[in-house]
Amino acid sequence: MDMTLARAQRAVRRSARSLTRPWRPAASNGAEPDRRMAQWADVRRRQAMADPARCLERLLGPKRGITPAMVQELFDEVAACDSLRRSVERYKDVIGKDFQAKLSGVVVAAILFNYVATRIVRPEVVVETGCATGWTSALFLLALRQNGKGHLYTIDLPAVSGELSMDWTLPAGLETGFLAPEELRDRWTLIIGDARAELMPLLAKVRQVDIFYHDSDHTYQHMMWEYTSVWPHLPPGGLLVSDDIGWNTAAWDFSRAMSRPLAIHGSNLNFGAMAKAVGPSPAA
Ligand SMILES: C[S@@+](CC[C@H](N)C(=O)[O-])C[C@H]1O[C@@H](n2cnc3c(N)ncnc32)[C@H](O)[C@@H]1O
Repeated sequence: MDMTLARAQRAVRRSARSLTRPWRPAASNGAEPDRRMAQWADVRRRQAMADPARCLERLLGPKRGITPAMVQELFDEVAACDSLRRSVERYKDVIGKDFQAKLSGVVVAAILFNYVATRIVRPEVVVETGCATGWTSALFLLALRQNGKGHLYTIDLPAVSGELSMDWTLPAGLETGFLAPEELRDRWTLIIGDARAELMPLLAKVRQVDIFYHDSDHTYQHMMWEYTSVWPHLPPGGLLVSDDIGWNTAAWDFSRAMSRPLAIHGSNLNFGAMAKAVGPSPAA
């Protein structure tokens, strides 16, 4: 293991001793209302790119030949998925959005990094923490179906408003991941449990994770713990994608510690992704 990651992991382990004690939800959403947060907000604004193709190129490198037409075609695959459309329309009152709304606005970043990138990278193993309705799980599953290969492992504790940084409760009678269409589920293992207990055994089992997506507990400590735990399991070029990067400085601190730039799309400054270096690098 390289020294940079070992140092980052030691620091996280030191600050994460409380993970072994009974969990107490943070009083706030974990935001750090200080100078560093303002600095980080500024970095995110400056790093955000408006053009989806250029943004993906920043993440995946120039060798993939990513063009606007290619990205548009892959976006269109999501819009054309009838089972996903039916699922979202069926539950639109529960999730507060119809299918059209699920394809625009802040969700564009998730489609770009979770669907389009998965179609281009063609991973064998995707690991996701945080499922709730299952929208992002469905995006991954559709991409894996289109690729004809790969498996998604999702870890989730059922959402309860006011707990674990959630503002939404899974309605009675609905199961975690209810938006994921039945016909896409053959490439899915949904693990109901705490990422703190489930992530390490899963990593030991799969060994290599081609794409990791964090969307569970958005406290600094937990995000850092997930990032540092997963990073050694990413191959060169493997992706670390994260929602809610603006809640604290974990993504920024981690990206700097690993010397890997974050790709951020202008549709959502709260969403980012970085790739592990392909060539030799001190933080690879
Ligand atoms: C923001 S939601 C996920 C949304 C989903 N990725 C999407 O966009 O469709 C976060 C989910 O993570 C769960 N969660 C929070 N902390 C967790 C933890 N420590 N382990 C597992 N799941 C957790 C919450 O209960 C909730 O279901």
